[in-house]
Amino acid sequence: MKVKEILEKAYHERNLVKDEIKLLLMAEGEDRDLLLETADRVRKERVGDEVFLRGLIEFSSYCKNDCFYCGLRRSNQNAQRYRMQEDEIVEVAKRAYQMGYHTVVLQSGEDMYYTKDMLCSIIKKIKMVADVAITLSIGERSYDEYKAFKDAGADRFLMRFETSNKKLYRKYHPGMSFEKRIDCLKWIKSLGFELGTGFLIGLPEQTLDDLVQDIILVKELDADMIGIGPFIPHPQTPLKDAKEGSVDLTLKSIAILRLLIPDSNIPATTALGTLDPYGRQKGLKSGANIVMPNVNSLEYKLKYELYPGKICINEDATKCRGCIESIIVSLGRKVGQGKGQSRHYKKDS
Ligand code: SAM
Ligand code: SF4
Ligand code: FES
Repeated sequence: MKVKEILEKAYHERNLVKDEIKLLLMAEGEDRDLLLETADRVRKERVGDEVFLRGLIEFSSYCKNDCFYCGLRRSNQNAQRYRMQEDEIVEVAKRAYQMGYHTVVLQSGEDMYYTKDMLCSIIKKIKMVADVAITLSIGERSYDEYKAFKDAGADRFLMRFETSNKKLYRKYHPGMSFEKRIDCLKWIKSLGFELGTGFLIGLPEQTLDDLVQDIILVKELDADMIGIGPFIPHPQTPLKDAKEGSVDLTLKSIAILRLLIPDSNIPATTALGTLDPYGRQKGLKSGANIVMPNVNSLEYKLKYELYPGKICINEDATKCRGCIESIIVSLGRKVGQGKGQSRHYKKDS
């Protein structure tokens, strides 16, 4: 089957078999361009030209986990740890709202210092001072905790499964279980959160077949938001000598998922912008419709080091807000108004 025919099928049926996805991931030259252009067209048809901004608040750099790729892993003695206190988090969320953000993403390592009650209190306080959607990205918790967060007013939840290859998952996530992660994602969905999930591209030993399976798993989990980013080696982790993930494979994966879940929200990730100075622009032209600028102060930005060379690390939140807007306008797009709920979610509910 030719790439053009596969794209026709994806467009009409929103479904592809493994071999077809693999052929798309391998597409080169004109075929590759056609894939990205088709995804861009579908993005325009289905979710329009608006690019929605999410204000990212990285509120704690402590983590109890030891993921092999991440600079925040607990074994990294050199990591700079901080915890923002409740009022400070609420204050930053309020500032983000005043800067024009209609969604804030509360992200952290898996830090149990923040109890269920503390997190619920933060969610409620933010909702009192700012008319924003709240996305949580805090990792694995119990069903009861997720339920409490939803009841407190949290709207969305982001948690990547990172890789669908169970052997690799076990290897890179000591003490964690792939099955548990999938259970958590299903709980989150069943509780009525807008669900975001995705994977890393370019983990050592990951094959093209693994990526095909990753794409299929995102579809099976019926994600409303899809987060895909290239792996970037961090010098203080066991994967320090590994090769970074491919920007091109990331763009193709974004494009394929735009075709398979056309109404979803897909960010052009910071990692993509870190590996390629035009990475975010390229992502936005390959099916993505979201950007997540950091709204924290410089001090915290520097300390939340998942990987080296992160963009915007020396830019304050106001500068990033202006910069990202000019990027969006330069692409002939516009900054989204309102909370930018996933159309895929709206359809479900
Ligand atoms: N601790 C929560 C979790 O793991 O879901 C949320 C924060 S975690 C830092 C957010 C994402 O960062 C992870 O899902 C992972 O894919 C990504 N990440 C971590 N280390 C990375 C690296 N070296 N390169 C690229 N992405 C990385
Ligand atoms: Fe912790 Fe998330 Fe980093 Fe894993 S990816 S070490 S869970 S912050
Ligand atoms: Fe941060 Fe451009 S978005 S400097």
